[in-house]
Amino acid sequence: MSDDSVLPPPEIENLLAESRLFPPDPAFVAQANASAEMYAEAEADFEAFWAKHARERIDWSKPFETTLEWDLPFAKWFTGGELNVAYNCVDRHVERGLGDKVAYHWIGEPGDTRTLTFADLQREVSKAANALKELGVQTGDRVAIYMPMIPELPIAMLACARIGAPHTVVFGGFSAESLSGRINDCGAKVLITADGGYRRGKEIGLKHHADEALADTPTIEASIVVRRLGHDVHMVPDRDHWWHDIVDRQSDDCPPVAVESEHMLYLLYTSGTTAKPKGILHTTAGYLLGASLTHEVVFDIKPDDVYWCAADIGWVTGHSYIVYGPLANATTSIMYEGAPDTPAWDRWWQIVEDYKVSILYCAPTAIRAFMKQGEAWPAAHDLTTLRVLGSVGEPINPEAWLWYHENIGGSRAPIVDTWWQTETGQILITPLPGVTTTKPGSATHPFPGIAADVVDADGNSVPLGGGGYLVLKRPWPAMLRGIYGDPERYHETYWKRFPGMYFAGDGAKRDLDGYLWLLGRVDDVMNVAGHRISTTEVESALVDHKSVAEAAVVGKKDEVSGQAIFAFVILKADREPSDALAVQLREHVAYVIGPIARPKFLMFVPDLPKTRSGKIMRRLLRDIAEGRVLGDTTTLADVGVVDTIREHSGSAEE
Ligand code: PRX
Repeated sequence: MSDDSVLPPPEIENLLAESRLFPPDPAFVAQANASAEMYAEAEADFEAFWAKHARERIDWSKPFETTLEWDLPFAKWFTGGELNVAYNCVDRHVERGLGDKVAYHWIGEPGDTRTLTFADLQREVSKAANALKELGVQTGDRVAIYMPMIPELPIAMLACARIGAPHTVVFGGFSAESLSGRINDCGAKVLITADGGYRRGKEIGLKHHADEALADTPTIEASIVVRRLGHDVHMVPDRDHWWHDIVDRQSDDCPPVAVESEHMLYLLYTSGTTAKPKGILHTTAGYLLGASLTHEVVFDIKPDDVYWCAADIGWVTGHSYIVYGPLANATTSIMYEGAPDTPAWDRWWQIVEDYKVSILYCAPTAIRAFMKQGEAWPAAHDLTTLRVLGSVGEPINPEAWLWYHENIGGSRAPIVDTWWQTETGQILITPLPGVTTTKPGSATHPFPGIAADVVDADGNSVPLGGGGYLVLKRPWPAMLRGIYGDPERYHETYWKRFPGMYFAGDGAKRDLDGYLWLLGRVDDVMNVAGHRISTTEVESALVDHKSVAEAAVVGKKDEVSGQAIFAFVILKADREPSDALAVQLREHVAYVIGPIARPKFLMFVPDLPKTRSGKIMRRLLRDIAEGRVLGDTTTLADVGVVDTIREHSGSAEE
C-alpha cells in the first residue's frame, strides 16, 4: 500500500442513517435452503462443517483423509482425496437421469438462441477435451481461453477440467498485450478463441487480437478458433484449427481424469497495486465446494429454478456463479452474450419474461444504469417469476438497492448483497435469504464458517460502530492458494499487513447491530463497473506513449460505473497539449489494456503533487478530481503545484 492511502471518505455515515429493515417473508422462510442453525454449527467446528458438506456435495473418486492443512498462509483442503470437476458438474447429473435437463439457455445478442442440456454438455465437453489431447495437452498443462460469451466458453473450461489442464480465461475485452502477458506468465500451451462476438449491435473481432498476442508467446503450440461471426479470418497453417473441424470430429468418449484435491483448476489474473497482474491460483476440491455450497444457499437454488448471473465468464463471478457453482448444483442457467441496452433498455426484462427467470445476480453498475433509464422499461414486462435478487462487485448504494427491490423484485424478492473477490473464489459476506433481515446497502454478515473482522491499523478489532480494514481470520475452502509463480508476492500482498490475517484491501464498518458495510478499496486499485483496475497499470500504459513523461491515475466517483478513471498527464517537454492528443492517449490505454481501462477524464498538468520522498500524493489528486477542498498538505514538497493543477482543472477531457 502507498503511504498516503487512506480509508475512503466516510460516506457510510449517511448509510448508517438508513434505518429501514427488511425482515424475511414468512412464506420464503418456510421453504428456504438456509437456516440460522448453519451459523452455530459452523462456528462450533468450522472444519467439521466444511468436511460434512464436502462429503455430501462432491462425488469423490477417492475420499479425502485430512480436512485442512494450514501452514499460514498456505492452505491445503481435503488432502488425500481425488475427484474430477467436469464429472461433478456434468456427468454425474446425466448418470442420475438429468441428461435432458437444460444447463444453459443461451441467447446471442442478435437474437439467435441455443439450448444445451446436461447430456449435450457431456458430449461437447468430451469432444473438446479429446481435441485438446490431440493437440498434445496433458494433465497439468495450461490452456488460455479468450472468448466472447458463447456456449463454447464454458465447454472449453470444462474440457480443460476434464483432463486436469488448468485454464486461464482472459476477458474478451482485454487487449492483445494483456492476453500475451497472461499467456507468458503461465506458459500456456494452447489458446482457445473465436473469430469474434456481438456487443451493442456491433461485431467485435477477437482473432486479430489473438494473432497479435500469439506473435509474442513462445509457449503456444496451437490454437482453436470458434466461428461465431462467420467472416474470413486469417488462419495460420499448422497452428490454428477451427473448432468445427478439430472438435466436431472427435469421439464423445473421454474419461474424466481424477486429480488430487489440490490440483490447480484455474488461474485468473487480477489487478494489484503494481503494473503486473497477479495470477490468482485456484485448486480443485475446496473451490468446487465453496462455489457450489454458497450458490445453493445464498441464491436458495431449487431444482426448477431458472437462474441468471449476468456477469461475463471472463471475471471470477462468471467462473464461480455461471460455470462451476450452478453446474455442480445441476441448475438451469441463462447465458446472454450481449449488452443490456441492445436493441433497447428492456433486453434483460424481456429475457426474464421469456424464460421465466426466478433468480437474477448482477452488479450495482448495471442497476444504476437501469435506474437512469427509468422504471417504465422493467414495468412493461412480467417479472413476477423473480424470487431472489443478487448484487456483486462493488458497494450497492441504498438508493439503487431500493430501486432494485421495488422495480425488479416487486418489493417481494429478497436481495442478497454478496461481498467477495477473485481471491476468495466464493461469496464470503452475504445475507442468507429466508434468514437474514437486510438493510439496504449492507452486505450484512459473514457466510457460515467464515471469520471476518474489521480491524484498526494495528490489527485490533474495532468496536461495534467503528470502521477500519476488512480481514479474514481463518482459511476457507475456495480461497486462493497463491499467486502463480510468486509465493513471496502472495505473502506480501495479503498476509503481511496484519500478521496471521488475510487482508482483502477493502475498508469496512460494522454498525451497532453488527452489520458489515463495505467501503471500497483502500489501496491504489480502482473499481470501475465492478472490475478492479490498478492505477499503476493505467499509468504504465500512458507512460508507454511516446508523448508522455509521467502520469498519475485516480478513481473519481461516477454515478453509473461507481468509479471512473481520471488521468493526470505530464507531457514531454517538446509536446503540446491538445484535445486530439487527449483522445489519442485515452485510446492508447484502451489499446494496451482494453476498453474497460480507457480513462474517462484526462487532464494535462505541468507537475504532480509529491511527498518529499517523491511519492505521488493520490489523495490530493482525488480531491482535485472530485472538486473537493484539499486535505492535509503538510507532507507536500511543493504546495504551488496543486494550485497550478487546479488552474488547469477546467480543461479535463471527458
Ligand atoms: O472492493 C471489493 C469489491 O470488489 C472487489 C473484488 O473485485 P474482484 O476480485 O474483481 O471480484 C469482483 C466480484 C467478486 C472487492 O475487494 N466488491 C465485490 N463485491 C462487493 C464489493 N464491494 C462491496 N460490496 C460487495 N458486495
